[in-house]
Amino acid sequence: MADPLVEAALAARARAYAPYSRFAVGAALRCADGSIHAGCNVENAAYPQGSCAEAGALSAMVLAGQRVVCEVVVAGAGSLPCTPCGGCRQRLREFAPAAGDLRVRVVDETGRTLLESTLEALLPHSFGPTTLASAGPSA
Ligand code: THU
Repeated sequence: MADPLVEAALAARARAYAPYSRFAVGAALRCADGSIHAGCNVENAAYPQGSCAEAGALSAMVLAGQRVVCEVVVAGAGSLPCTPCGGCRQRLREFAPAAGDLRVRVVDETGRTLLESTLEALLPHSFGPTTLASAGPSA
């Protein structure tokens, strides 16, 4: 049976609004409670205002009341993996499990896995909520 997280990322990719880059992306997150939340990239004629698929998926997740991402699948196209951009690595970092890492999988437009990694590997020595908390209240 197909992996529901991959299916969700592919379904989200099919809804991408990417008339400028023509590079459709879908992302799907699996949360600690097992729920899945997806997003697609949404571009804009004022190019910098476009948003990534991961950002849309994180918004959907927070709106649904979830705060911990255990796994993410990003669906792009072509033979090179569509790894999360730098900004999205940091966005994902915000909702990574406090005591663990999160799995990152990149698939192509057919659902074939091109890369399996972790957020820790993609964003080593990251800055996150715990960094702020470790400084204490007077910082
Ligand atoms: N894009 C994503 O949605 N996620 C990524 O991780 C990388 C890039 C989008 C942004 C833009 O709409 C298009 O892909 C080309 O950069």
